[in-house]
Amino acid sequence: MTSQELKKSFFEYFQSQNHALISSASLIPENDPTVLFTTAGMHPLVPYLVGEKHPEGNRLVNVQKCVRTGDIDEVGDATHHTFFEMLGNWSLGDYFKEETIKFSWEFLTGTLKLDKKNLAVSIFGGNEDVPNYDSQSEKVWLDLGVAQDRIEKIKENWWGPAGQTGPCGPDTEIFYWTGQGDAPEVFHEDDNGWVEIWNNVIMQYNKTADGKYEALKQKNIDTGMGFERTLAVLNGFDDNYLTELWQPIIKQLEKLSGKKYEDDKKSFRIIADHIRSAVFMMGDPRGIAPSNKDQGYVLRRLIRRAIRFGKSINIENNFCVELAEIIINLYKSGYSELVDNKKFIISELTKEEEKFTKTLAKGLKEFTKLKTVDGKAAFVLFSTYGFPLEMTEELAQESNIKINKQEFEAEFKKHQELSRTASAGMFKGGLADDGEMATKYHTATHLLHQALRNVLGDHVEQRGSNINEKRLRFDFVHPEALTPEQKQAVEDMVNEQIKAGLEVNFKEMSVDEAKNQGAIGLFDNKYGEKIKIYEVGSFSKEICGGPHVDNTKHLGHFHIKKEQSSSAGIRRIKAILE
Ligand code: ALA
Repeated sequence: MTSQELKKSFFEYFQSQNHALISSASLIPENDPTVLFTTAGMHPLVPYLVGEKHPEGNRLVNVQKCVRTGDIDEVGDATHHTFFEMLGNWSLGDYFKEETIKFSWEFLTGTLKLDKKNLAVSIFGGNEDVPNYDSQSEKVWLDLGVAQDRIEKIKENWWGPAGQTGPCGPDTEIFYWTGQGDAPEVFHEDDNGWVEIWNNVIMQYNKTADGKYEALKQKNIDTGMGFERTLAVLNGFDDNYLTELWQPIIKQLEKLSGKKYEDDKKSFRIIADHIRSAVFMMGDPRGIAPSNKDQGYVLRRLIRRAIRFGKSINIENNFCVELAEIIINLYKSGYSELVDNKKFIISELTKEEEKFTKTLAKGLKEFTKLKTVDGKAAFVLFSTYGFPLEMTEELAQESNIKINKQEFEAEFKKHQELSRTASAGMFKGGLADDGEMATKYHTATHLLHQALRNVLGDHVEQRGSNINEKRLRFDFVHPEALTPEQKQAVEDMVNEQIKAGLEVNFKEMSVDEAKNQGAIGLFDNKYGEKIKIYEVGSFSKEICGGPHVDNTKHLGHFHIKKEQSSSAGIRRIKAILE
């Protein structure tokens, strides 16, 4: 089965069960201060999981682009990737565990015809917060004919929240046997040979800021099927990189390096994985460029790490662009944004590779001169030559150099604070907060966006939005700093709308209709599906999932605290409601 056939059969199966197909959201989460990237299909759907109405109904199916760099150390094995596509079926307060388990079983064993002998499942085994094991899911699996010995109770079978608060719940996972010989009768998920291919999350709790689990307004189903793992399994591979999605990249690397994949699988996999992620990050509708902070820093690390591994398999010339061309070609039919943004991808990649290659050789030379390295010296290498942190550690290990970790980390912390890199703090707090203040800030952001267009002109377009309980942050296209008069005019205009007590309502319509009506905001790559347009009186019309206040009179006084440059041609406003 090809990758396209697998996606098509997944969509068709769930469409035949009355699910509406929706497009993948951006890799860059909107309005979310807690995560840098969309790490699961649930992120963009959080407003609907907590009760907002979805314009396409309460049964959805999709494939979502995701990036996870938390387990970057595992990349290099057969199944972990930093970028991946997740197939999902969704119930927003509609069907629940029995149906989703049956759907997944029917799809795997009926449509895909996977041999039941090679399948096993895990269920939630109970923990300190929710003590009872999930006997209901167990019963559904038993009724479907899964042997008791192939059902393992696991207390970690719990998914989410993605940040510290938000929707979450127990899950039941499906595994496929890719090991040698027959699958063991008794299933233990930790035994080598079992690969998780599908996760059904029974999303019924909301974790609050004080660590409590309260019932969500509605009971949801969030599922994630590992697209590449399933594709590998269907084609009889125990290695994702043997599938058609990777082979053209691997083959090119063999050509460039003169080595065989078998000679150094780990390096081949890391290079292919990292460049593919980089292409999707830069090619996203909200595409990012390599930089020293936030998403741009993660992107830079991936590219630089790939280049370093490229050198380790003897690739002498620049190679990233060649790989990028292959990757764009592989994915262009599903992700037209890669073609739309090809120029940007190629030029950013070229710049980054040239910049880093120049210092890499020098840095490596310096590194091998050092025999015991104090933390500071290692850090100097890291910062002078732009070696990502983990690269410095890897290099030290490879050349048997001991780094004083404490010293190194102290230096690194200082650097992190200075450059505001992707620090752990980013992940604290809640995912897509729908608390009272955050909701007010959502509405205030729409007012600000429109006021900026009225005062500065229609070239103002949103580039980023980040909201928490204390403030909003809004990035937009504008070539120069705002004058004090412009700032004042924007602030006054927002406050006038607040005083006017405008009603906030939403309408559902097609993307074309919304654009024809002059709605603003980030449409990303949405096609052929209904979307929600929020209207604030007749002042603003903007695409958005919500949530919003019902009337602007609840917002209080709007005040711009700061206006500054964010990057070339992009301004950033931080504002509060007081
Ligand atoms: N949200 C679930 C996961 O990412 C499906 O595994």
